[in-house]
Amino acid sequence: MAEVEQNIAALLSEERVFEPPADFAAGAIVRDRSPYERAEADLEGFWAEQAERLTWFRKWDAVMDWDPPWVKWFEGGTLNASYNCLDRHVEAGGGDKIAYYWEGEPGERRAITYGELLDEVCRCANALKSLGVERGDRVAIYLGMIPELPIAMLACARIGAPHSVVFGGFSAESLRDRIIDAEAKVLVTQDGGYRRGSEVPLKANADEALKECPSIEHVVTVRRSGGEHPFTPGRDHWYHELIAEQPPECEPQEMDAEDILYLLYTSGTTGSPKGIVHTTGGYLTGVAATHRMIFDIHDDDIFWCSADIGWVTGHSYIVYGPLANHTTGVIYEGAPDWPDRDRLWEIVERYKVTILYTAPTAIRAFMRWGTEYPEKHELSSLRLLGTVGEPINPEAWIWYWKFIGRKRCPVVDTWWQTETGMILITPLPGITRLKPGSATFPFPGVHAEVLDDQGNPVPPGGGGYLVLTHPWPAMLRTIWGDPDRYVTTYFGKYGPNIYLAGDGAKRDEDGYFWLLGRIDDVMNVAGHRLSTYEIESALVDNSKVAEAAVVSRPDELVGEAIVAFVTLKSSYEGTDGVAAELREHVANKIGKIARPHGIIFTTDLPKTRSGKIMRRLLRDVARGRPLGDVTTLANAEIVEQIHEMVDSGTGEE
Ligand code: PRX
Repeated sequence: MAEVEQNIAALLSEERVFEPPADFAAGAIVRDRSPYERAEADLEGFWAEQAERLTWFRKWDAVMDWDPPWVKWFEGGTLNASYNCLDRHVEAGGGDKIAYYWEGEPGERRAITYGELLDEVCRCANALKSLGVERGDRVAIYLGMIPELPIAMLACARIGAPHSVVFGGFSAESLRDRIIDAEAKVLVTQDGGYRRGSEVPLKANADEALKECPSIEHVVTVRRSGGEHPFTPGRDHWYHELIAEQPPECEPQEMDAEDILYLLYTSGTTGSPKGIVHTTGGYLTGVAATHRMIFDIHDDDIFWCSADIGWVTGHSYIVYGPLANHTTGVIYEGAPDWPDRDRLWEIVERYKVTILYTAPTAIRAFMRWGTEYPEKHELSSLRLLGTVGEPINPEAWIWYWKFIGRKRCPVVDTWWQTETGMILITPLPGITRLKPGSATFPFPGVHAEVLDDQGNPVPPGGGGYLVLTHPWPAMLRTIWGDPDRYVTTYFGKYGPNIYLAGDGAKRDEDGYFWLLGRIDDVMNVAGHRLSTYEIESALVDNSKVAEAAVVSRPDELVGEAIVAFVTLKSSYEGTDGVAAELREHVANKIGKIARPHGIIFTTDLPKTRSGKIMRRLLRDVARGRPLGDVTTLANAEIVEQIHEMVDSGTGEE
């Protein structure tokens, strides 16, 4: 914890407080503390009221059934997520409202109404059925940010087939591992995507992955880039050909509240990525309620969450939450600096975006690029800003507020995780006094605390472990195929009643929560969770590497930069060429986001006498800090050598 506490020292000296602007507060969905009071008085009643905003085929018998650490919400109730996101709005006369403005990186534009989205989702659902997909079958989706991504997700939801979306930036191997773990029957992919002007070879990666995925029976490929790809007869189908044959009606399956809506893989401390399981009724209730109240969603809002749909942020706040609330959203395919560094601001201006939700890493990039880019554009449509993914430093918060929000827009710093499904700690913009760098307070009906190692509450000002002491509707139900891992990972430390988030946190004298970063071997690189273990495994997989230890150091741009300490097999030398090769190797194994920023070659790694690598020491070395006690090391002399290597800058990019 000492380390994460140091990270927060700067944040806690932040004393500026921002009141909600009066005009914003006057028109806000939440104008007083009544949701907090309601949830305090009757937590289940509060969530039941939120659930009632959805359309149920059959009402639930019980709001919550908590058999720690297992929970069920709205049992006995039946509903369909795709029906809630589409049909009910169309049936109520809202079919002509734009669901998404889509913009391709090369510049194409498409506006898709709720009515059109419903038609295409039905065709896609029928196409999946024609390939033999049945209720309960898993469908893997490996797509870039194109309309077919939410369409395929909603088509799965419509027929009750859990989807497993794999971020388009992941490698063939990452895709393969996730398909194998989920035993997916069908894969939906595309020929190629666009990123910073070049083509992302999704189908080629998929073909590589599928060499070892016996569960896949069919592959559906969306044509986007138009490149040539080998087609395997009987297995491969073009999306446009398949759906052309399908009728635009498809009866939604009546799903139980606790039926699985989707799996989404995320990095853990050790071992393979975990397939986080989200179910239908509680998840949809949680994302719709948080989306509406935190982003203050009104009928005429244009809501832009700039995350990739391949991460949970996109699942919850591009697809399920916004569509359940009949909101107009924006989907942009490519990079924020393509063709120039004002692309995002051009999009905000073009569609008159009112609410923008992005990540601190993006905000830091915008800061570095300079204010001339946002200044070129009319951003007066914006009325609310949000951030997610990692702690935001107050300088970045203030910059965002000043140069993007032009001092008019509240900034909601929202804390949550893949596992939590929905935002849990957050301001409500019409009523919360904001402190830059603090995610402020738990959402109504959410019980968060900061505990010490023994499980005692930590008094104001002290650092500890962030925990949740009561279930919330969108929480994960288990880890796919590994319920024991669910129990040990989240409920191993304090017992089955207390969910351990894996983040350090502090509360100040006013009760505000300040997030301190991860407490385990999970790093947060550019808002994405990566485990040191996965990167180490990828390095050791290279035939030149004997041993590797991966740590992070704070980085102005990406939050945490990846530093790898590598011992090569004796016949190899640690040249710049080998460092470049290893970086590439990791990028190929996991994806470019995992590519180490620095590689430091060493003849040995510092180890305890029981043989455990002392990552704490390596972290100090990587961060240029004075070293602590090294007397417990089996090989103390190596630290001195590593220091010298670092000073001479070996392997840094
Ligand atoms: O460490 C916290 C950080 O991101 C982790 C969750 O990552 P992931 O499951 O990939 O989901 C990211 C998007 C929901 C958390 O354990 N994190 C997320 N939001 C914040 C944050 N840290 C500080 N402040 C936040 N607002």
